[in-house]
Amino acid sequence: MDKIHVPVLAKEAVGFLRVVPGGRYIDCTFGAGGHSKQILSQVGSGGKILGIDRDGKIIEEVRAGFEEYGDGLTMVVGKFSDIEDYAGRYGFENADGILFDLGLSSWQLDDRNRGFSYLDFDASLDMRMGESEMRAKDILNNWDIKDLIRIFKNYGDIDKAKQVAKRIVSSRRAKHFNTVGDLLSVLEGLGKQYYSRRFLARVWQSLRMAVNDEVGELEKGLESAVDLLGAGGRLVVISFHSVEDRIVKNFFRDYSRRCRCPKDLPECACGGQILRRITKKPVVVSGEELDKNIRSKSAKLRVVEKI
Ligand SMILES: C[S@@+](CC[C@H](N)C(=O)[O-])C[C@H]1O[C@@H](n2cnc3c(N)ncnc32)[C@H](O)[C@@H]1O
Repeated sequence: MDKIHVPVLAKEAVGFLRVVPGGRYIDCTFGAGGHSKQILSQVGSGGKILGIDRDGKIIEEVRAGFEEYGDGLTMVVGKFSDIEDYAGRYGFENADGILFDLGLSSWQLDDRNRGFSYLDFDASLDMRMGESEMRAKDILNNWDIKDLIRIFKNYGDIDKAKQVAKRIVSSRRAKHFNTVGDLLSVLEGLGKQYYSRRFLARVWQSLRMAVNDEVGELEKGLESAVDLLGAGGRLVVISFHSVEDRIVKNFFRDYSRRCRCPKDLPECACGGQILRRITKKPVVVSGEELDKNIRSKSAKLRVVEKI
């Protein structure tokens, strides 16, 4: 099967970055490089892009297709929580723009052996995007009930998180979780009211977010991005579900305040307002884009500018 990832909200994202010839941009979620390609077409020969992705498999597969850009593109396998290190190493401090296009690439979702889709019955319950310490099966086989409830609630917004966690823990006596099918058969036992595509998508999302520490990555990545941006530089974030979007929205709101200090502090110690919100409401996909790419459905794009 041909591997294709259609970049989501690409025109909007690149437009908001206000790419200037000779500028330096960081693409924190390079994937198959769809967004970067568009930035590269606008920065000209003097411009530079640092493309980061934690998934070494994707980077190796697409690398040859980007050779024509030479020094204009530096591709790195790594986590975006470490962008400050990479930016320091490759000269991307005071960047002109930084992009996060969160979540999974279609390349990962369509890779039938990695357990990212609940449709891949025989796949291993892995769900690692890169070099994580644990796999989804480790969580299912070993975590205690409190932690399972926490991830189903916080990462999947699952109402009956306790029932789901209980069912998983009690099934361990008879079952060792190894494949997608193992988890499906346990969840099926919860009854029809649970077993919908929406519910399964939320369980998968919770496990994937825990395996890859996606909340920790996003919080650290956003903080570092703000530090790395030069004055007037823009930060563009595309998220795909409410848990991510909430983090981005709150982060942008907090850093756009005149002061983030506790109210009882006699004088400001935070240095004052750091960001200015460019999008008051998130930008969503048009009907035309949705017709071409159903996976773009839940995308929300938010933009801030460093003061
Ligand atoms: C939606 S895709 C990006 C697609 C890309 N914009 C394109 O046009 O092809 C998200 C990518 O981010 C990567 N990713 C997710 N979390 C990451 C992290 N914490 N650090 C680095 N890369 C990450 C995933 O491996 C995936 O390839």
